[in-house]
This record gives sequence, structure tokens and C-alpha cells, in this order.
Amino acid sequence: MEAPICLVENINEVMTVNKEAIEILEKISQPVVVVAIVGLYRTGKSYLMNRLAGRNCGFPLGSTIQSKTKGIWMWCMPHPVNPDHTLVLLDTEGLGDVEKGDPKNDSWIFALAILLSSTFVYNSLGTINHQALEQLHYVTELTELIKAKSSSNSDGVQDSTEFVSFFPDFIWAVRDFTLQLQCNDNFITADQYLEKALKLISDDKLSAQASNSTRECIRKFFPKRKCFVFGWPTNNNSLLANIENVREDQLDPKFLEQTKTFCSYVLTHEKSKTLREGIVVTGNRLGALVESYVKAINSGAVPCLENTVITLAQRENAAAMEKAAAHYSEQMAQRLQLPTDTLQELLDVHAACEKEAIMVFMENSFKDEDGKFQKKLVETIEKEKQDFLLKNEEESDQYCQKELTLLSKALTESISAGRFCAPGGHQCYMEMRKKIEEDYCQVPRKGVKAEEVLQKFLQSQATTEESILKSDKELTKRDREIAAEKAKKEAAEMDQKILAARRQEEMQKLEALQRTQRENMEQLKKKLISERENLLKEQKMMLEQQMKIQMEYLKEGFKKKSEEMNDVVKSMNNRLQAVEQDNDSFITRALKSVGEGIAAILDPFVPGKLIGKALKGIGSLFK
Ligand SMILES: *[C@@H]1O[C@H](CO)[C@@H](O)[C@H](O)[C@H]1NC(C)=O
Ligand SMILES: *[C@@H]1O[C@H](CO)[C@@H](O)[C@H](O)[C@H]1NC(C)=O
Ligand SMILES: *[C@@H]1O[C@H](CO)[C@@H](O)[C@H](O)[C@H]1NC(C)=O
Repeated sequence: MEAPICLVENINEVMTVNKEAIEILEKISQPVVVVAIVGLYRTGKSYLMNRLAGRNCGFPLGSTIQSKTKGIWMWCMPHPVNPDHTLVLLDTEGLGDVEKGDPKNDSWIFALAILLSSTFVYNSLGTINHQALEQLHYVTELTELIKAKSSSNSDGVQDSTEFVSFFPDFIWAVRDFTLQLQCNDNFITADQYLEKALKLISDDKLSAQASNSTRECIRKFFPKRKCFVFGWPTNNNSLLANIENVREDQLDPKFLEQTKTFCSYVLTHEKSKTLREGIVVTGNRLGALVESYVKAINSGAVPCLENTVITLAQRENAAAMEKAAAHYSEQMAQRLQLPTDTLQELLDVHAACEKEAIMVFMENSFKDEDGKFQKKLVETIEKEKQDFLLKNEEESDQYCQKELTLLSKALTESISAGRFCAPGGHQCYMEMRKKIEEDYCQVPRKGVKAEEVLQKFLQSQATTEESILKSDKELTKRDREIAAEKAKKEAAEMDQKILAARRQEEMQKLEALQRTQRENMEQLKKKLISERENLLKEQKMMLEQQMKIQMEYLKEGFKKKSEEMNDVVKSMNNRLQAVEQDNDSFITRALKSVGEGIAAILDPFVPGKLIGKALKGIGSLFK
């Protein structure tokens, strides 16, 4: 992308998603690192954005261009540090700018910037004081704007407590900071400065109440916080007014150093955007999130983060299923050369392709409730496998017939010309036929129908042989009887041979089905274990975060406030324990349920004669 484009615009008080921006996101399959920057107009946000992008210009800089609408601008580029990621920069326009319409809608822009980003940068001028905190009052409105869970919190855990699992890391960028970072004559870090500013105000000054609740919310929603201070870029006013075109060497070296530190932190410390339980957000998932949040906002509903994940999962899992099925088809077509020499050869290639396809599905799916899409994948692949089996038989059949017709041309001609209707004709005929069989045997890669085609050919020769036998005057009656018996015996042997081969093929087909079941179960188990691990990790993180805040309040002298949190901490602890205790049985239950579903899908494909045995075979896999 050469320049930023609008992602969400507030047109006539209606949030509008720019389709063009969504199309750009849809094409990005890499995980995204999303840095959003929010703050008042003319605070130098765009400068930081441009630095992150490694450019001098790009985002319209406040001092020169004034966009007419409020909204969010987006700029995507390859991540400068992490090659497998895409960096998405979001700039909010016109927040807190009364000229640009109703400030009510600002809360939504603010909320969207939080929900979409992995790093949220709040940019303000001067110092972190009451005023700066009051300007950040949007955080206190978040609990009214969004909901984490769809169900009411029956387990005693406040809904907003769950925000942390969706929210980005928080960075406060203090611009034009001219003070010393000091506290009681000691130098402090920018982070310590921020933490100090976020301490609750103990006296009951009415004027501090608003900023007090902002402090509380920041501490509650953003456990990971960071602060950077920046001095003046330059003290030359004419340069300041035109900062977009100012060369680096004209800027204050200290400011440049501060900018560099900031950029390097953002680009090296920030993880990719995730939703709860570690679900990685790719570019196209980000696009889906934007659309789904904005749709909810415009409908007047309170967007529910959990429901968004469910909707996203359905969309993504359907796509993951398609992608996995396509991978299977592609790979099968590429690796198979029909007809295969043996059935097992085809089944082995199938197993390898199927394994990869399931891996593709597992990589791209999440929270596949009751294996809905995995089961669809099993069915799709199985049907396609059947097509390959059938095609393999047809190709083998055609090839064998062609070869045999060629080999038996001389024989057929001799028969038509009546050359065997002579003394010694039978002997002659048999030798010629035997030669055909031997030559046919030498033909390579005849495939699964080789024997059957030969059998059909021999069967078609039976009456011919009989009449030749009858007309061969050289033979005695006894000779004829022996020859006829021999022919019958050979035919019976051939029958047996083919029957045995068929039985073996059926066993191989059954084993292939069992392997399908096993592969699906093994990969599902891995996935479930890792999903549960993420869930547990997140629950623990949330609990620890609460306990940390509780401890801090106590240290800061807010004993009552700290005690008020006892109930929440207890509820979260109970919930965590419940999840931990149920962990193994949850996985067992899920595996059993999906396993039975897959067995039911595979059963119709079990080769006829083995049904009873097969059911037991597949059923026994998940006992
Ligand atoms: C924006 O503000 C207007 C006026 O208060 C309101 O009617 C509209 O619903 C708001 N839009 C959103 C998305 O909240
Ligand atoms: C700030 O919050 C704390 C804890 O709730 C409270 O004790 C204190 O009175 C509040 N301060 C102001 C100025 O509202
Ligand atoms: C400010 O910068 C401009 C452009 O480089 C220069 O012409 C001017 O002399 C500078 N003013 C001061 C006070 O340094």
C-alpha cells in the first residue's frame, strides 16, 4: 500500500466500512500486528505513524490537512522486523474535535481502535495530568459500549473483567514533554511516571473524580502498559509548521532518539493481534472483525466480543474446510499416476494427502464446535477418495483391455481364419493363448483390474476352446476330457485368485478407513489440548491480573477498594479450578462425540462383506 486509506468513516452519524479497505485486508493471510494511535487532533500522531512505517509522510499530518470526517485510517505494510507478519497502522481522525460532529460517536471510534489493535497508543501533549486523563474518559464508557460474554455472568465474574482477553497492550506517548522525569529528587523511568500518574486520588476533590475512574479503568483493562515521553521535535517554529517535509538532521537529536526508541519497542516487542484464547488474527480475519463490529454498532446493539469470535469461527472454519479439501484434491492429482500399480499404492498416497489436508484444516480453524467442519471435511475427502478409486479402476480396465486386444490380435485373426480347425489345432491354440498370458503378465503398471480383465478374456475364449477341442481329430476322447477338465480347473483357480485378491483389497480399504479415523482423532486431540491450554493460560492471567490490582490498591492505601475485589477474585479462582478439573474429561467427551460422528460418516464406505467386522473395528478406536 502506497498510502493510507480510510477503513471506517463516520458519515452522517453512521459508521461506514470502506469496502476497498476490506478488500485489501482480505488478501492478507499473514497474522497482523495492529498499532492504533488515538489522541486529540494536532498532537503529532501522524508523525509517529509515519515513523513506524519508516516514512516521512503518508498519514495526513494534522497541521496541514484536515479531513472532513471522523474515522479510522488504515495503512498496511510488510512488518519491518517480523517477515511473516503484516503491520497494520490505524490512525483515528477527529477524536474530540467538536467541529467534526457529535462527540458521542467518538466513543465508538475509540472502542473500535481498541478492539482492532494489538498495540494501542494514546498520544497526548504536555504531561499526564487530570486534563489528559479526562480526555481519555472514553475508556470508562467501554463497559457500556461492549460486552465480553453473551450470557449474563452467572459465575460472579464481572463482564468487563474479561476485556483483558480481547484488549491490546497500552502505550501512552507523551509529546512535547518538557519536564524532568523525577519524583522526590530521584530520576524515574517513563513507565514509573505513568504508574505514578495512574494512582487513584485519595482526597475527595470533586474535580478529580472523572480522572479517577479513568485511572481505574486503564489499570483494569490494560495490564500491559508502557510510557514514552518525547521532547519538542525542534524549537524552530517555521520547521514545526512544516514538519512533514523536514529532514531528519534538522530535528532535535534527542527527539529523534526518543522516536527511535519508541518505534523499536513497538516493532520488536509487540506480538500479533490475538482474540481470546490466543486465536491469531490474520488480515482477512481483521477485515471480518471490522465488518462485524461496525454492523453491530450500527444496529444499535451492544457488540458482544464472544459472539464475534463465534461468528468469525464459523466463517473461518468453513474456509479452512474448503482450503483443506482443495489441498487434498490438488495433491492427489499431482502425486497420483492413474492407474496405480496396486490399490495399496493409491491408498498410501491418499493417506499422505489426507494427513496434510487435516493439518491444513487444523492450522486454519479454531473452536470447531462438535467437529462440525472437520466432519464435513472427512465426508468431502472420503467421497473424493471414492471417485479416485473408481477412476483408478476405469483407467486400469481400459488400459488392460487395450493391451490385451493388441496382444491377442494374432490369435483372434487365426480363430476367424479357422486355422485351429485342423489336427493338432488345440495344442497350437493353447500355446498361442499361453504366450498371450505370458506377454500380458510382462506389461507394466496394469493396475487393479489386471486379473479381472484377463479373466474376462479367458472366459470369452471358453466356447472357442471347446469347439476347437471338439474339432481336433488328432485327440482321443480321453484327451478331450482331460483338456476340458484342465480348462475348468484353471477357471476355478482363477476365480479363487480373484476372490482372494478382492478380499485383500477390501481389507486394505477398511484399514484405510480406520487410518482416516485415527488420523482425525490424533490431530483433533492435539488441537483440543492446545486450545484448552490457551484457555487455562488466559484464565490464570485474568486471575493474576485481578490479584495484582487488589494488592496495589492495598499498598496505595485503598483498603476498602481492595476488599471489594475479594468476591471477584474468589469467583475467578473457582472458575479456574472448575476448568482445570474438567480439563481431561472435556477432551475425552469432545473426542468421543466427534469420533462417533466421523465413524458414522465413514461406515457407509466400508466394503460390503466386512460390515459387521468393520463397525467393530472403527468403533473400537475410541474405546
Ligand atoms: C452518532 O451520534 C448520533 C447523534 O447523537 C446518533 O444518532 C448516532 O446513533 C450515533 N452513531 C453511532 C454509531 O453511535
Ligand atoms: C478515587 O477512587 C478511590 C477508590 O475508589 C476513592 O477512595 C477516592 O475517593 C476517589 N477519589 C476521588 C477524587 O473521587
Ligand atoms: C528555522 O529554519 C528555517 C529553515 O531551515 C531557517 O531558514 C531559519 O533560519 C530557522 N530559524 C531559526 C530561528 O533558527
